[in-house]
Amino acid sequence: MGIPKTYSFPRYLAAKKSVDDRAINRHVLASFTRALSNSTAKSPLGVLEVGAGIGTMVERLLDWGVLETATYTAVDSDPDIIAEACRRLPRWAASRGYSHSGDCPEKVLLEKMDQHIFVEFEAIEITDFVNREKGHRSWDLLMANAFLDLLDVPSSLPLLFSLLRPGGLFYFTINFDGVTIFQPEIDPVLDRQIATLYHRTMNQRVIAGKPSGDSCTGRHLFADLRACGAEVFDVGSSDWVVFARPNGYPEDEAYFLHHIIHTVDAALKENPKVDANLLASWIRDRHAQVEEGVLVYIAHQLDFLGRVP
Ligand SMILES: C[S@@+](CC[C@H](N)C(=O)[O-])C[C@H]1O[C@@H](n2cnc3c(N)ncnc32)[C@H](O)[C@@H]1O
Repeated sequence: MGIPKTYSFPRYLAAKKSVDDRAINRHVLASFTRALSNSTAKSPLGVLEVGAGIGTMVERLLDWGVLETATYTAVDSDPDIIAEACRRLPRWAASRGYSHSGDCPEKVLLEKMDQHIFVEFEAIEITDFVNREKGHRSWDLLMANAFLDLLDVPSSLPLLFSLLRPGGLFYFTINFDGVTIFQPEIDPVLDRQIATLYHRTMNQRVIAGKPSGDSCTGRHLFADLRACGAEVFDVGSSDWVVFARPNGYPEDEAYFLHHIIHTVDAALKENPKVDANLLASWIRDRHAQVEEGVLVYIAHQLDFLGRVP
């Protein structure tokens, strides 16, 4: 594909879809499907997805037959990402034979046979959303995919849970858990140093004056959920494993890899703890490995399913 000259976050999220599709833990998914069918929630099921990106989770849950009749609220702080979600969902729906209608791009009703899903997108920061909705609206199911590791989870979970009805379900997927592997090795010491410093940037991230991120979100969720009084039904690993098949990387996963390498570069290039020339050469070599189809990338993550009291 050639090493990209510019990078696009919407394209990264679209390329990530096939990687997440493989990674999402099937045992936890089966428990999730069972929990939904045993749920006492009235139809339509009220679903809230936070940090929803371009809406790939809605597509996935419809493709996998997990949702039938639901109102699906998808929020994300980035207006450009929400605009892309609004463009993408009708196109995707038409390709899958759904009828779609709506008064505005942010609200779409998707229908096919027994499936009736009303999706509403909103560009809003999650704390503002919680402050506005708390005490006014509540949802039956809260979801977050590849999102909680961007927050300060101990202080954010109680806020997010305040939007669930008593006994409401949560399904938190693709929570990063502190292991990044690039193969083949370039230099074991440098490889380790880059992964360690990259993880440290996640731990030190501050957004709007608040700590926002934890490179071990997955393992810490056990205690964070317990502190909220939540019951955990199932947990399983959802590692990203990206490698080239005999005819190359699947779908747009070569771009996904280039974007990940670019993210590592952007996170570390001003970091005085790593030699700038060594980093630049490491980044060049990793991009070259993607082009040659030899780069293997593994990120360890965990999926959680449970219920609030
Ligand atoms: C890694 S992306 C994951 C997107 C999507 N869930 C997926 O898996 O494709 C994280 C998303 O969270 C959004 N985000 C980050 N901080 C946020 C916040 N405080 N409130 C709402 N959305 C936020 C970003 O704009 C981004 O789209």
